[in-house]
Amino acid sequence: MSGGNGAFFEAMLVRVAKQDVRLGMYVHAIEGSWMDHPFWRSRFLLSEQSQLERVFASKVEYLVIDAARGLDPSQLAPVLDERTAKSERQPLSARERITELRRAASTIKRSKVAVMGLFEDARLGKAVQTASMGPIVEEISQSVSRDPSIILNIAKLKTKDEYTYLHSVAVCALMINLGRSMGLDEGLTQEIGMAGLLHDVGKMAIPETILKKPARLDELEMETVRNHPQRGYEILSASAGVNETALDVCLHHHEKMDGTGYPQRLPGKALSLFARMSSVCDVYDAVTSQRPYNTPWSASHALQLMQGWEGHFDPEVVDAFIESLGILPVGTLIRVNDDRLAIVTGESSSDFTLPRARIFYSPDRMYDEPLLDIEVSRNKGGWSVLGIEDPAKWGFPDWKRTSRAIITRKSN
Ligand SMILES: [Fe+2]
Repeated sequence: MSGGNGAFFEAMLVRVAKQDVRLGMYVHAIEGSWMDHPFWRSRFLLSEQSQLERVFASKVEYLVIDAARGLDPSQLAPVLDERTAKSERQPLSARERITELRRAASTIKRSKVAVMGLFEDARLGKAVQTASMGPIVEEISQSVSRDPSIILNIAKLKTKDEYTYLHSVAVCALMINLGRSMGLDEGLTQEIGMAGLLHDVGKMAIPETILKKPARLDELEMETVRNHPQRGYEILSASAGVNETALDVCLHHHEKMDGTGYPQRLPGKALSLFARMSSVCDVYDAVTSQRPYNTPWSASHALQLMQGWEGHFDPEVVDAFIESLGILPVGTLIRVNDDRLAIVTGESSSDFTLPRARIFYSPDRMYDEPLLDIEVSRNKGGWSVLGIEDPAKWGFPDWKRTSRAIITRKSN
């Protein structure tokens, strides 16, 4: 992303039709009467999905974008093309999946070695060579574009010694997948992937005795750990060629929307979109990682809980993240292919992007007994999801309570 030299930008103004406006662009002016546009300011960075939606819904036809302060419209592929490509992506055949499994495993191995090398330099107090990580981000990005679930599934398994490195690789993959799903252009997607790869470099400034301590940390040790975003920011600032996004994400990935995060206790409105994205990707990988002596949360359970943590994440980013993974959180009301209603209870053991669900309701017979537990599959003739349903429309006013009651009931 251009810009970042702080004090002075020479404006590069481009007139852009409303439908071509994207997150990350800097609005310089909005054409037409101020009464027709939904913002009281006319110069600002489009950093939130809700702002973009307000633009789309407004009477405004054209906006003037400053390409020097944000995304350059001339370098973008059309949004629709990317979204169509995503929705039309065919699932891999069994043979292609095996090939991709091998490719993704070797990508992860190579990435881990590269991250270890770079982090080792940081540990020794050397400037880090981030340019060498470009091809690694590219390779991860390609694997994500072929099938994100494969590389993400492999990156879940982490031994204690390799945790920090593989966590970096996983956050890189998650950021790329989320960015692409949100319609960010490829250049910016690679940039946030790089930011994901580097976000925890400050952990190298923490003594290993603390980093790998199997017991609970005392207050002083916690303080040292909480210092890692600041230390990482210093390491990256002292290194050549590190972009603003990586610095931002490194410093702010532990901030929270309600201002109770660290190190700066910034409120949500002071956090960039990329920082808000990184905090979701970071926590999701941490809680779903499979480590020795640590039972991970399933993806669908993690997403359900993360949705409920008020004040921690940006809810719009959480929704976008859920959509990017294509995983239904536990508790989601769905309609399955025999037209009955079911509640998501977890994920398939063979493919974490497919849900397990409990059928409990037929539109004609109301509550359906006995409860039937099913696993959605890709096989022809197997269970599939027809759609996500709105509980209020089906007469479930307190869905949280109803869903909890159904999930905890024993099935026959
Ligand atoms: Fe961190």
